[in-house]
Amino acid sequence: MTSSAFAYIDGVLHAERVSAVSLAEQFGTPLYVYSRAALTRAWHAYADACQGRRATVHVAVKANSNLAVLNVFARLGAGFDIVSGGELARVLAAGGKAENTVFSGVGKRADEMRDALIAGVKCFNVESIPELDRLNAVAAALGKKAPVSLRVNPDVDAKTHPYISTGLKSNKFGVAFDEARAAYHAAAAMPHLEVVGIDCHIGSQITEIAPYLDAVDKLLDLVEQLEADGIVLGHIDVGGGLGITYQDETPPEIGAFVRTVLERIEARGHGQREVYFEPGRSLVGNAGVMLTRVEFLKPGAEKNFAIVDAAMNDLARPAMYEAFHAIEPVVQAPPGSAPAGVYDVVGPVCESGDWLGRERRLAVSPGELLAVYSAGAYGFAMSSNYNTRPRAAEVMVDGDQVHVVRVREEVAQLFANETILPD
Ligand code: LLP
Repeated sequence: MTSSAFAYIDGVLHAERVSAVSLAEQFGTPLYVYSRAALTRAWHAYADACQGRRATVHVAVKANSNLAVLNVFARLGAGFDIVSGGELARVLAAGGKAENTVFSGVGKRADEMRDALIAGVKCFNVESIPELDRLNAVAAALGKKAPVSLRVNPDVDAKTHPYISTGLKSNKFGVAFDEARAAYHAAAAMPHLEVVGIDCHIGSQITEIAPYLDAVDKLLDLVEQLEADGIVLGHIDVGGGLGITYQDETPPEIGAFVRTVLERIEARGHGQREVYFEPGRSLVGNAGVMLTRVEFLKPGAEKNFAIVDAAMNDLARPAMYEAFHAIEPVVQAPPGSAPAGVYDVVGPVCESGDWLGRERRLAVSPGELLAVYSAGAYGFAMSSNYNTRPRAAEVMVDGDQVHVVRVREEVAQLFANETILPD
């Protein structure tokens, strides 16, 4: 749940060396707080395990697309995994390089393909034959050859939440395993495509290595078959998906995960191929917390509610996936203080699904600050303006320094692009 970047010092939660109380006072709540040290540490866990091997890491931008977060990774030499033209623009604005960027996603528009080809992305991860046709046409119009990998659906069960499981036959993602060979032949015959690799992504918040090894084995079977057909693939992209500890999950350590996957690929005699990883959550999830303040306590016959100033628009994961995020007071109750109660921690949005935590034992009072942990991945990135709520500010702590990396939105901005009808 916590990483050492967020720890209590004299009973007060700190982000690195900065008190969360002072952050909330200075920048208001709800507030996303990221730790540069935690981001860097997670990056090194991947990079160190890849050291000396033909393996590269592409940060999944969707998990946290704040420019400063992307910039921390870009400075460390990261590649990126994008799913839209918007994410490409962010990568470039953050100092990332197109030639280190792979373009994933099941529904790329022609204009997005065009912009990405002009920018010079490293690879298009293509998910269907119609998409191959479209990419071939876009590349032809530019007089270019587009580097492509096919996202193959290995039909393995990643044993995670159905909404974030993507490697099963029943998902919309990827080319079905049984159709992949024919799709590769189709791609190889298109004059403006250059077949360079193979990819998969079996799901997210995966806490075991076994499904990855199953997927890798299936991919390698296909790679061998294709090579016999004369189609040589230079890289194998195993996707993202490694889980983190939100509560009591025990995912493999990043380094152990990377080494195990690489060893399997080497053991099968494919060590000459480059391996790509596309992690999102495991890089950023526990590098961020969201601070929120208790507005009211509302005791009830069946339940007690702690109504806080953050809501499902700020952190959608509980409402969308019934996801668990640890919630703790920012200032620890001194020994002997009032006993804790059991609360549902809920926001002000007009939906019963607007909750951040259920049945949490907390010693809280109105005005008090709470920290919602593991909020660095799919937190701000999935936030919205529902109920015309300005999105939260984001800050990054670096030692004893604090950088505002996104100012809080203002209400006027939220409808600045709207107009009323003419008279
Ligand atoms: N690569 C591809 C092609 C993906 O679709 C994803 C995530 C990733 C990489 C990064 O996966 P990660 O390492 O973060 O698991 N909003 C959900 C998670 C959706 C994940 C979508 N794809 C959540 O909050 O749990």
